[in-house]
Amino acid sequence: MDKVKGRLTLLVDNIVSGKAESLGEDGFSVFVETDYGNFLFDTGRGTTIVHNSIVHKKNLGLLNKIILSHGHADHSGGLEQVLRFHDKIKVLGHPDIFLNRFRGVEGGNQKYGGIPYNMSYLEKLGASFVFNREFVDIDQGLYLTGEIPRETDFEYGDMANRWGIRDGKIIQDIILDDQSLIIGTEQGILILLGCAHSGIINIINHSMKMTGSDRIWGIIGGTHLGFSGEVQLEKTIQALKYYQIEHFIPAHCTGIDAVSRLVNVFKEVVRFSYAGMTFEF
Ligand SMILES: [Fe+2]
Ligand SMILES: [Fe+2]
Repeated sequence: MDKVKGRLTLLVDNIVSGKAESLGEDGFSVFVETDYGNFLFDTGRGTTIVHNSIVHKKNLGLLNKIILSHGHADHSGGLEQVLRFHDKIKVLGHPDIFLNRFRGVEGGNQKYGGIPYNMSYLEKLGASFVFNREFVDIDQGLYLTGEIPRETDFEYGDMANRWGIRDGKIIQDIILDDQSLIIGTEQGILILLGCAHSGIINIINHSMKMTGSDRIWGIIGGTHLGFSGEVQLEKTIQALKYYQIEHFIPAHCTGIDAVSRLVNVFKEVVRFSYAGMTFEF
C-alpha cells in the first residue's frame, strides 16, 4: 500500500462551527489534498459547496478526480455545480449511483432519493464516469473500497422501505453502491465514509483486508448511526473498541445524539465534525 501526506477539509457537513462563515446543509463533501493533487469525495446537495469552497479557499477548479460515495442526493447533488469548474473530469463511483431509487411505502409518501440528474446531462457538462464494483487503486495512496460484503449480524441499519427499479423490476435497495475512500498514511489507513450504509464495521474489516493494513489511524464521515437503531449503535460501539482507532470524526448523518454517545465512550478520540474542519495526514 502506498502512503501519502496531505490534508482533508470538510467542505459540506450538517454542522457548522460558530467561528466560521461556512453554511451547513444535510450533505457531505471532503476536499482531499495530497502531494499528487486534489480530489473531491462527494459533493453535498449543491446548496453550500461553492460558497464553502470560497470561504475555505479550496479551488474546485483544481481537482484531479471526483469520487461519489453513493448516489444519494445529499452526496451527489452538488456534482452539477462542481462540473462547471471543469471542461472534462473523471467521476468515480459504483454503477448503481444511477439506480432509479425511492424511499417510502406503497400508497404512502414515496420520494425519489437518487442522483438528481441523468448521466447524459452530467456527461454533457464534462463528467467522464469511471465505474467500479471491486476495490480499486485510484491514485497514489488513494483506494476505493468497491462493494462492501455485509458480514456482521448487527449492521442491517436503516434499510426499511428503500427500493429501486432495475431492468423494469422493483428491487429492494440495499445501497450496493456505498463505497468508502481509503488513504494510506505513515500512521495507518484513514477511511472516509459517505453514509456507511454497509455498516462501519463491515467497511473497516473490508478496508483492512483489501489494503493489508492492520492499523486504522482514523475514520471520518457519515456513519448513519443515529438512524440505525439502539441495537446497532451499541453493538457498533462495542466492536469499535477492538480497532484502537486514534481519530474518529463521525459527521453528516451520524446525528448529534449518536456523536455525543461516541464522545462519552471514546473521549478525545472522537471530535464533532463541522464544515471547514481540517485534518492533516
Ligand atoms: Fe448521506
Ligand atoms: Fe446515503
